[in-house]
Order: sequence, then structure tokens, then C-alpha cells
Amino acid sequence: MKQPVRVAVTGAAGQIGYSLLFRIASGEMLGKDQPVILQMLEVPFEKAQQALKGVMMELEDCAFPLLAGMVGTDDPKVAFKDADYALLVGSRPRGPGMERAELLAVNGEIFIAQGKALNEVASRDVKVLVVGNPANTNAYIAMKSAPDLPAKNFTAMLRLDHNRALSQLAAKTGKAVADIEKMAVWGNHSPTMYADYRFAIINGESVKDMINDQEWNANVFLPTVGKRGAAIIEARGLSSAASAANAAIDHMRDWALGTNGKWVTMGIPSDGSYGIPEDVMYGVPVTCENGEYTRVEGLPIDEFSREKMDATLAELEGERAAVADLLK
Ligand code: NAD
Ligand code: LMR
Repeated sequence: MKQPVRVAVTGAAGQIGYSLLFRIASGEMLGKDQPVILQMLEVPFEKAQQALKGVMMELEDCAFPLLAGMVGTDDPKVAFKDADYALLVGSRPRGPGMERAELLAVNGEIFIAQGKALNEVASRDVKVLVVGNPANTNAYIAMKSAPDLPAKNFTAMLRLDHNRALSQLAAKTGKAVADIEKMAVWGNHSPTMYADYRFAIINGESVKDMINDQEWNANVFLPTVGKRGAAIIEARGLSSAASAANAAIDHMRDWALGTNGKWVTMGIPSDGSYGIPEDVMYGVPVTCENGEYTRVEGLPIDEFSREKMDATLAELEGERAAVADLLK
């Protein structure tokens, strides 16, 4: 049996937390041979701490063979102590009629404090996934607040958009989700994200050629994927939780265990490629191997794509400017 690894989860008593923790403890994220110690953070209010206690009781009642320990706390330095993985979920979700960027004012500060705490006490190899919205800019804030950790350790969740795009393409083509390869989502986790199936293939055949309908791409596919979060809030009265937790599991599992050459989408700090300025936390297609992600390089960018990629970049630059003072 391997040595246990430490997995920090913030917002542990929230909706996503409830869909996430049990799957991590059962080995779905890091493998069925990898024991985990869960280090769970919640706000210091009695109601939240009480709810966290209840979640921990349920985790205990599952008798997960891989659950090697649990910590529940309201102190980020305790939650992140020696953490090998950190899933930063805790923050406010949006309600109907709001855009995710509007959350920056309430959520931005959280990621300053948590970035600093990670900087101080986490493993130097900690893999950080920011789920809390607006995810890209919050990940950027955390990264900038943790100057002693490698910037590449900080990532934002675009995987839900990636998975949503796969399902829409499967429905359109009548093919299986599992057969779709080389899907990419560029930019911000927001309606401006650009889900790009120009390179996608199914059993070696081009998805773009199979669909052959630019009207559908521009006027149905992109708005459906881009506004899916709002559609779920409209339908459920609450933001997506199980599908968000599932995407977080996919993101971390692929980063830790590899993708076997398969493309997935991660929000990562830009290295300047594709005309995206360095450090912008931007969704790109990657492959993962040996615990590292590698950006898929050299893809041709046509005029339509350039426009879309620049629009989502402009939004991210706007968010970055809005938090510049916070980061001083
Ligand atoms: P929720 O309100 O059900 O749960 C959030 C939990 O976080 C609450 O229990 C709250 O007490 C806790 N929390 C708040 N501030 C905290 C802090 N500073 N430290 C620790 N815990 C804190 O919300 P949810 O539905 O679980 O969503 C959480 C976040 O994830 C929201 O910002 C939501 O918009 C976002 N989200 C992102 C994606 C994505 O694809 N990136 C998808 C779905 C939801
Ligand atoms: C989503 O995409 O479902 C989440 O980001 C929640 C939201 O606010 O849309």
C-alpha cells in the first residue's frame, strides 16, 4: 500500500463538497491504491462547523478503506498543512441573473488569504485546483499570493465546460462521449469561453466535417455550453454541484495520474503561447503525464477562433485589472 497523501478541500460542508469528498475518499480521484487524509476547511460560523461535523460523521460511517485520516477546521493553515492536493471550492455561488465575475468582490479576498496560507504551509509540490467562481481569476489571485510556490501548481477548473462540450457533441453526432478525442476549451470559465471542436476526432474522423455547420457552432453549440451554468441555476434554483464535483475529480485525477496522450482542458498560467500574455489563467488543451501537464502547442488559430480567444482574454484582463489593488 502507498503512503497516504494529504488532500485539502475548502467549502467542505457546501453543495460541491458533499458531492466531492466521498468520491475522493473512495479512491475515484487518486486511484484505488492511494490512501488519503482529508483536510477540510469551513468558515468559523457554528452552523458551518456543525454541518462539517455531520459530513465527517458520514465519511466515518462509510468505512472507506482508503481514508487514512480526517481533519476538520476553520483555519486555512491547518487545512493546508503539508497538503499535496488542494481543491479550493469554498466561496459564494452566484444566484439567478448574476454573472460569475460579479462574485469577484465577495470571493476575491478569500483566495488572497488562502494563497498566502498555501504559500506558508503546503507541500512545495501541492497541486491546486480553484473551483470557486470566478475560477480563473481566483486561481490567479491565489497564485500571486503564493510567491514561494511554483506558479504552474495553480490551476482553474475549465473541465466542466470541457465535459459539457463533449456531451453536446456526442448528442449532435450520435456518437459516444468516450470516443471523442482532441476537444479544447479556451479562456475563461464564463459565457465567453471558446469551446473549439476544430481538432476533435471520433474514431479518426473529423467532428467538424461530420457536423459541417458553422451556424450551429456559433449560434447553438457555443451559447449552450457557455450558458449552461446559468441554465442549471434556472432549473435547479442552485448552481451545479454534482457535475462540478465530477469535473474537479476528472481534473485532479488526470493531472495526478495522466491522460495517456488524451487532450483535456485545464485553466493554467499562460507561458505567452497562442498570443495570451504570460501569467493569465487561461483555459487550454493539455495532456498530462507523471504528475505534470503539458500545453498542446502549435495548433492553427483561424480568424473566428482568434476573435473568440481574444474576447475571452479581454474579459480575463478586465478581471485581472479589477483585482490589481487587492494584490498590492
Ligand atoms: P455552497 O454555498 O453550497 O458551498 C460553499 C461552501 O463554502 C459553504 O459551505 C461556505 O460556508 C464555504 N465557504 C465560504 N467561504 C469559505 C472560506 N473562506 N473558506 C472555507 N469555506 C468557505 O456553494 P457550492 O455550490 O458548493 O459552490 C462553491 C463555489 O464553486 C461557488 O463559487 C460556485 O460558483 C463555484 N462553482 C464553480 C464551478 C466551476 O466550473 N468552476 C462549477 C460549479 C460551482
Ligand atoms: C457552472 O458553470 O455551473 C458554475 O460555474 C456555476 C455557475 O455559476 O454557473
